[in-house]
Amino acid sequence: MKKYATTLGLLLLGLTFLKSQSLHQSVLLQYDKQIDDIIRQMTLEEKIEMLHAKHMFTSAGVPRLGIADMIYADGPFGIREEMQPDGWAGLGWEKDKATFFPTGSALAATWSPELAYAYGTGMAAEARRRGKDMLLGPAINIQRIPTGGRTYEYLSEDPFLSSRLSVAYTQGVQDNGVAVCLKHFALNNQENNRGTVNVIIGERAMREIYLPPFEAAVVEADAYGVMAAYNKVNGWWCAENDLLLNQILRKEWGFAGMVISDWSGTHSTVDAINHGLNVEMPTKQFLGAALLDSVKAGIVSEAVINERVKEILRVRMAIKPIPAEEANQIMTSQPAQQKIAYDVASKSIVLLKNEGVLPLDLSRKPVIAVIGANATQIMATGGLGAGVKTLYEVTPLAGLQDRIGDKAELRYAQGYVPVVYRWGRRTPEQIEKEQQENDIKSKQLAKEAIEIASQADLVLFVGGDNRAVETEGRDRETIELPSGQDDLIRQIAEVNNNIVTVLVSGAPNDLKVVQPISKALLISWFNGSEGGHALADVLLGNIAPGGRLPFSLPVNLKDSPAYALGNYPQGDKGGDVFANLVSESASSGKAKQSESDPNAAYYSEESLVGYRWFDTKKIPVMYPFGYGLTYTQFAYSGLKIEQDTYASDEVISLSVEVQNTGGRPADEVVQVYVHRIDGSVAWPEKELKAFARVSLQAGEKQTVQLNVPVKGLRYWDETSHAWKDDLCNIELLVGASSGDIRLTRKVTLH
Ligand code: BGC
Repeated sequence: MKKYATTLGLLLLGLTFLKSQSLHQSVLLQYDKQIDDIIRQMTLEEKIEMLHAKHMFTSAGVPRLGIADMIYADGPFGIREEMQPDGWAGLGWEKDKATFFPTGSALAATWSPELAYAYGTGMAAEARRRGKDMLLGPAINIQRIPTGGRTYEYLSEDPFLSSRLSVAYTQGVQDNGVAVCLKHFALNNQENNRGTVNVIIGERAMREIYLPPFEAAVVEADAYGVMAAYNKVNGWWCAENDLLLNQILRKEWGFAGMVISDWSGTHSTVDAINHGLNVEMPTKQFLGAALLDSVKAGIVSEAVINERVKEILRVRMAIKPIPAEEANQIMTSQPAQQKIAYDVASKSIVLLKNEGVLPLDLSRKPVIAVIGANATQIMATGGLGAGVKTLYEVTPLAGLQDRIGDKAELRYAQGYVPVVYRWGRRTPEQIEKEQQENDIKSKQLAKEAIEIASQADLVLFVGGDNRAVETEGRDRETIELPSGQDDLIRQIAEVNNNIVTVLVSGAPNDLKVVQPISKALLISWFNGSEGGHALADVLLGNIAPGGRLPFSLPVNLKDSPAYALGNYPQGDKGGDVFANLVSESASSGKAKQSESDPNAAYYSEESLVGYRWFDTKKIPVMYPFGYGLTYTQFAYSGLKIEQDTYASDEVISLSVEVQNTGGRPADEVVQVYVHRIDGSVAWPEKELKAFARVSLQAGEKQTVQLNVPVKGLRYWDETSHAWKDDLCNIELLVGASSGDIRLTRKVTLH
C-alpha cells in the first residue's frame, strides 16, 4: 500500500511537473509516418546531401524521390535580391525588387503584435513570389548594448516586448506558406568578434532575458526554423551546443523543425550533428564528406543522421515548394506589401519632445530649411549584411515634397558628410587623405546649411546614423551622432533656434547636445520604402505620432549596464567579420576561455539589461523605455483588478480606463509592469508584463483589458535548474512608459 502511495505520489508529481512545462505539440509531427517511409528509401549519401549547403542560399532535397531543395532568403526586413548561386554578387534582375520594410527596432516601436503579424504576411507574400521556402528572420536577439551593430535589426532590450512581436511575426509568415528561421540562437548580442566571442552567462539571465523571444516563437507560434549564432555560449559554439539545441530547443520547448548554421558558423562534424545542427550553411566543410566518413567509420550513428534528416523533411512537408517556372513572374514588391510598410512606419515614429512646434503649421507658407544627409539618404542598403534591393524608398525629403507640395517652401542642404562603408583595408595615408578632404567638404556643407537656416522660418534637421554606421559585423564605438552633427546643429542654432530634429537611426544616439537645442525631437528609424511619407504625415499632423521607445536612451553610453560593469567592450578586435571567420575556422577549440581573453564576454549584469538596470540602480536616463509623446494627452483612471490574491496557475486580469483628453485622435500604449514587494529572490525594480496599443478619438474613453498570467512571473532557479514561482506580494504598475507610472495596485500571489 505504502509503495502504491509513493508511486501515485511520484506520478502526480510527474504530471504536475509536465503541466508546468511548456508542452508544445508541433504541427510538423503529423508528417512523421510518411517521412519514415521516405527515409527508408534514401541512401546514406542522399541523407548527407541534405545536411549541408548546395548553394549559397539552397540546401538539397532528394530529387530521386521528388523532394525539392530548400530555398532560403534573407530577411529580416525585406527579401534579399537574387544573387549568383555561389556568390554574393547580384544577378541584376529587375523583378527581384522588394519592399523595404521598417527594420526591427522600428517594428518594435509600434508595440503592436497586429502590425508585426501584418509585417510577417508581407514578408511571406514577397518570399512566395520569389519562390523561397524559408525566411532568414525574424532577428530577435536582445539589444544588450546600445552600440550593437545589429540593434536596428533586432527588436528590443525587453524580452516580453520582443516575445510578443516575435510570435506575431512568425505567425504572419508561417500562416502564409513560408517557414521562419529565428535568428541568431542564441546570445548574439554584439557584432565585434561575433565569430569568436564566448558569452559567459548564468542560467537565470539566459532563461529570463535572452531566450524568451525564441521560446515564445517556438512554443506559441510553432516556428519551423532556427539559425544557430556565430558565437559560443559558456564555451560551446552555438552550432554544436547540446544544451541550446538538443536540451532546451528540442526537448524542453518541443521544437520539431530544423536548425541551420549562421553563414560559415559551423565548427565541427561529430559535435555539430550529434548536438543538433541540421544544415551547415553555406558550406560543406563539416557536414559533407567528413560526415559521410564519420558515419562509415561508426563515429556518428545513422540513427542521428535519420533524426536530422527527418527534422528537415518535416519542414519540407509543411512548406509547399514553388515550381521554378512559377517564381519571379511579377515584381516582388506589390502595393499590398507597400501599404503594410507604410502602416508600420507611420505607427513607429517616436516623438520625444515637442514645445508646440508640431504638427507643422503651413498656414503662412513657411520657408523650411531641410538640413542633413539623412533627408536624402537611402537606408535599404549600406554596410555589411542583408540589405533590400528595394523597388523604391521614399526618403524624408521626398516624403515632405510629396505631402507638402507648394504649401511651404522647402530648401535643402546636406550639412555634413555622411559616413560611407568601406570594404577592405585602407592605408593610413589613404585614411588621412580622406579625412582632409572630408574636413574641407564639411566646412563648405556646413556653411551652405547655416546660410539657408538663417533665411528660414523653421529648420528641419534630419540626421542620425545610417547603414554604414550601424552595420552587421561591427559595433559602433560610440553612440554620438556621427559626422560632426552636434557641432553643426550648434552652429545652426546660432542663426535660427526654431529647430525640429528628426533622427533617422535604428539604435540609441547620445542626445545631450541635440535635445536641449531642438524644439521638437523625433526618432523615425530606418523606416522602409514608405518611411518618408510616414514621417511627413507625422510632422504635418495627418497622423499623430504613436511609436514608443523599444529601448532606453541613456544619458551617457557608460551608464548602460555592460559598459558600467566593464563587460563591454572586451577587446579591440572589431572589424571585418569574414576575416575573423577565416582565422577562427582553423581552430575549433571549445575550452573555456580564460578571464584575460578578449573573446570572453561576461554577462555579469545578469538580468539587469536596459531599463531593468537603470531603474534598479536609479541611474537617470535621457528617455525611458516605453516613452513617446503624441499630439494629445491621455488620462488614466479606474484601475480594477478582479481579486486581491492569485494562485500560481491563475491569470491576473486588470482593466483601466484610458481617456484621450486632447483634441485629436491618437494611439496610446498602455504598459503594465510588475514590481516585487517582498520577493524571495532578487528582482529588477520592475519588468514589463503586459501592454496594449489602443486608438482613441478626441475625448474618447476606453476600458483597456490586460492580462498577466502568474506563470509569466516565475524565475529560473539555478539550483534546481527549473522555473519556480516566487509567491510574494507584488505591485502592478500601469503607465505610459517605464518612467511614467500612473496607477498602482498591490496583489498577493499565493
Ligand atoms: C548573418 C545572417 C544572415 C546570413 C546570410 C550572416 O552573416 O549573420 O543574419 O542571414 O549571413 O546572409
